[in-house]
Amino acid sequence: MKKIIIVGAGLAALSCIRHLDGEAEVVLFTKDRMEENNSHLAQGGICHSGREGDGGAGHVEDTYTAGDGLGSEEVIGEMIRAGHPLIEEMIAGGMAFDEDDSGGLDFALEGGHHSPRILHAGGDRSGEHLCRFLAKGIDRVRMEIHTSETVIKVITGEDGAAGVVTVDSEDVQHQHFCDVVILATGGFSGLYTVNSGASPRMGSGHILAFDAGISLRQMEMVQFHPTLLGTAGQTYGLVSEAVRGAGGVLRDGYGRRIMKDVHPLEDLAPRHVTSYEIHKRALKGEQIYLDIGGVKDFPGNFPVIHENVKKHFKADLKKGRIPVATGAHFTMGGAVAGIDGSTAVPNLYVIGETANTHFHGANRLASNALLEALVMGRKAAEKINKTMHRPKNKIFTGEVKVPVYDVSMFNEIKERAMSAAGIIRNGGQLETLLHLIEEAHHTAGTGTATNQNFQVHAEMKTIEAVVKSALLREETRGGHRRTDFPDAAPGPPMDTVVSMKEGKMD
Ligand code: SIN
Repeated sequence: MKKIIIVGAGLAALSCIRHLDGEAEVVLFTKDRMEENNSHLAQGGICHSGREGDGGAGHVEDTYTAGDGLGSEEVIGEMIRAGHPLIEEMIAGGMAFDEDDSGGLDFALEGGHHSPRILHAGGDRSGEHLCRFLAKGIDRVRMEIHTSETVIKVITGEDGAAGVVTVDSEDVQHQHFCDVVILATGGFSGLYTVNSGASPRMGSGHILAFDAGISLRQMEMVQFHPTLLGTAGQTYGLVSEAVRGAGGVLRDGYGRRIMKDVHPLEDLAPRHVTSYEIHKRALKGEQIYLDIGGVKDFPGNFPVIHENVKKHFKADLKKGRIPVATGAHFTMGGAVAGIDGSTAVPNLYVIGETANTHFHGANRLASNALLEALVMGRKAAEKINKTMHRPKNKIFTGEVKVPVYDVSMFNEIKERAMSAAGIIRNGGQLETLLHLIEEAHHTAGTGTATNQNFQVHAEMKTIEAVVKSALLREETRGGHRRTDFPDAAPGPPMDTVVSMKEGKMD
């Protein structure tokens, strides 16, 4: 038996578990119920360019361009080509993607795509349908699910990862040993007060990986979705880009189209372009609306969004428009990993949004997130299946301690992060925030890790990584827009990397 600990229960975790061989015994830790994660909420769908007849070349180009040149064309090509047979396999296995009027697959369009290539299911319930489909195959392996323990540390020894330390609801720490640890905790957009996510908490996998010795790359690259339902600062979840793909257009309060002269793809420009335009106008007090007059059967094709709009903005819905505002949605930055999730620490894998593989670059192309999760989960499983199991000596780490911060200082830092590390940034604000973080470190005590102080520790370190990386990147690229460096730096784009040096983030 090979014992595998998986942290997280989204699509990347499910894809991995589904393809582990029968030798595997899985112990899964998830902070919420199995169905409560961002994968489940995904509305748009999953990119599938396998039938375009170009071996994925157009999809590679759109991914690279949307990522503003920071992705690796090699990695992008590998990820996309690996996705083709996996999606075909799912279709052959009964995954019911939505069909068009003639019974063929209904390929939808979203921002940044020059060709319709997004498969969706249940209208705008794509994530839920995909997760359900993948979950059907996971009972082949022995599995234990823990929902009341939070993982606070990856135990490492000479052979690499050897287990995790958790804290239960009574704040008692436990050690769990295994052969392989997989971190699949999603991103950290929940750190931002306005976000599209399932849970107000953010995934802690980035910091679990960092504390285990993995560097974090491109942490400044945060994607803000252009269309959350609502007004600036008061939003009620996502309005999928697929609504614009189906004919929705963005208008100001006078009914004028706002994207017409901004980008050649107009309302379907890459997300960072559209979000900036909406955010810039919101700063001047303008409310932007999504005009759904041209969308065929809006209630039937987008049932979740329709119900949500009806609940919060019935009067606008009657006028055929939806008020929209920007909010944090996805984090491109992550723990450095290969596309099979392997990392610099043997037996420690990082998959899905928690990882940075150079796939998304500076801005993720719409509907590439579920593709990444599917491919990385599968590739990690295949690698783990081939890896010989070596019995390990148990390593007892003792009690896990973390810095304990002044709560009001932490709250101020978190609040400031929304603007200083938001859609529009500048060196002065970032420096001020960094000084505050340094002061917080200086005045922090040390205490036994509990649910509460581990979460604060993870959030504080994540903000620090974002701010340090944002200061390192003295240019404007993709989701990172600096008013003091308004252009892209000349030459090949650089990587921003933060690592642990002498116990500190460097
Ligand atoms: C959307 O449907 O707009 C979100 C899907 C994605 O993040 O790619």
